[in-house]
This record gives sequence, C-alpha cells and structure tokens, in this order.
Amino acid sequence: MTDQLRADVRDHYARAALTVLEGPGCCGGDASGDPVFGPGLYTPDELGPLPADAIAASLGCGNPTAVADLRPGETVLDLGSGGGIDVLIAARRVAPGGMAYGLDMTDEMLTLARRNAADAGVENARFVQGEIEAIPLPDASVDVVISNCVINLSTEKPRVFAEIARVLRPGGRLGVSDVVADDDLSPADRAERGDFVGCTAGALSFGEYAAGLAEAGLAEIRLTPTHAVGDRMYGAIVAAVRPAAGPGASQRDAATAAGAGLRAARALPPAGGVILGEGPTGADPCCGSGSCCG
Ligand SMILES: C[S@@+](CC[C@H](N)C(=O)[O-])C[C@H]1O[C@@H](n2cnc3c(N)ncnc32)[C@H](O)[C@@H]1O
Repeated sequence: MTDQLRADVRDHYARAALTVLEGPGCCGGDASGDPVFGPGLYTPDELGPLPADAIAASLGCGNPTAVADLRPGETVLDLGSGGGIDVLIAARRVAPGGMAYGLDMTDEMLTLARRNAADAGVENARFVQGEIEAIPLPDASVDVVISNCVINLSTEKPRVFAEIARVLRPGGRLGVSDVVADDDLSPADRAERGDFVGCTAGALSFGEYAAGLAEAGLAEIRLTPTHAVGDRMYGAIVAAVRPAAGPGASQRDAATAAGAGLRAARALPPAGGVILGEGPTGADPCCGSGSCCG
C-alpha cells in the first residue's frame, strides 16, 4: 500500500510537470485566480522576476518563504520542490553567499525546475533527486528547511520529521506550508474530503503535526492556519527550530519541544480564527480532485 501510494504520487506529479514542460495547461499559471492553491498565494513582487513556467507549475498551499525570514548567506532546503518556485524565491533572498537546494523524487519535476532556474538566471540553486524520507544531504548542513504542500504526501511522516531534525544545524529553522486537518477529523473523515495525491487524505491533524515534530526533537513549534482548503481542512504555516547545542541543551530542549507540541495542539483555533478565505466548493473539472494541489 505504501509503495503503491508513493508510485501514485510520483505518477501524478510527473504528469503535472509534463503538462507544463510540453505547453500551457489548464491548471496553474493564473496568479490572480485560485486563493487556495498555487501562484495566487504569492505577491506580485515575488512572482515578477520568475519565469512563466515556474509560476504555472506552482502547486503549493502557502508561501513558506514569506515566513522563513531568509537571510543572505544561508543554506535553504525545499522538500518536494516541484517546479522550483520556492527555491527560486529563496535563492534570491539568501544571495549573496547563500544556496537554495530543491529536493524532489520526480524526474520530470527536476527537469522543469532546472529549466526554470536557468530561465530565471538564478545561479545559487541546485535541484537534487531523492525522497524526503531519506534526504541526501549531510547532518547539520542546512540553516532553513522549507516545504510547500508535500509532507502530507509522505507515507512515512515520522521519518521525514527525523530527517528534517538531522539536516538542520543546531539553531536551524523549519518553515513549512501544508494542508492540516482539524483535530476532530479522523483519517476516514479526511479521506472523505479528498484523495491522497491531491494533498487531502494524507494530511495530519494539528495535534499530530506538533507531536511528530516534537518527537523528532524540534522545539518552538507553532502551527498557524492561514486559509480554509475544505471542510475543516486548512492551509497552515508550520514553524519550528532545532534546539541550539550546548551543555544540557538536549534534555532541556527535548522537554521544551514536548511542551511546545502539546501547547500548539491545544492552542489551535477552530475554523474561523485566522482563516483568510473559504475553501473550494466543488471539484475543479480541470484539476480533477477539487484541490489544485495536483
Ligand atoms: C503538491 S506538489 C508541490 C510542489 C512545490 N512544493 C510547489 O509548491 O509547487 C508536491 C511535490 O512533492 C514531490 N514529492 C511528493 N512526495 C515526495 C517524496 N516522498 N519525496 C520527494 N518528493 C516528493 C512531488 O514530486 C511534487 O513535485
């Protein structure tokens, strides 16, 4: 089942990449349209310098670079980088001296992302083939991990969280956009609302997300819903840090992380609090699943 789901995800996003590589498709590319998924979540200033195909390929559910507070000289890693939109934005923010890596398991997405980087004239971006459950980068080599609507697609989320903690330098930061479910939605409830490849059935709840990050040793965990993407399903920003090293840090920070996870789980607002928009009301005949994540 796990292998089949992963193959389904790869096939789905390979087709999405080919749609852009082979010509204008009907999904994506309209930066003014969908306020829930894709390029409508970015500002005109962010999209302005990007090639049209990088914008057209945007399949995210947020704008992680907007909250990651990227600084010149930093090393950034984007998990599931797709057509590269967040890598290209991040690369500009960490210049001079910084580097933005995109990691994706789908060859067609990597081809598209590399073409977009060349078209954008961005030289401090690298796109790497691999899975987010086994990140092909050394321990403590990354200042900031970002990701946009990808972790929900993993069938092994505890491994993803452990890998994030491993590659972050002590004091490094996590800034992720993802689909997150209300805590009272069961896995079956989530599956009723959309399929796995469309970023819905595999979504964690707020509490599950916070607990998973805390279990991996991350601290200062905050989950902030930004907009509704369906019935009690949200686009959310997920932020955390890898505790800084130091005498007694691991025990102290592990306790802090566990507390932070629980606080985040409890503090989450019900639908309404900070929700910026309403979710889609029906299936999009273009995108097929009612979510334009894929
Ligand atoms: C919904 S798209 C988001 C792409 C990009 N982040 C964006 O905002 O446009 C999901 C991407 O994650 C990749 N992906 C999904 N599961 C993955 C995994 N386990 N390891 C690596 N990449 C994965 C897919 O190939 C696809 O490019």
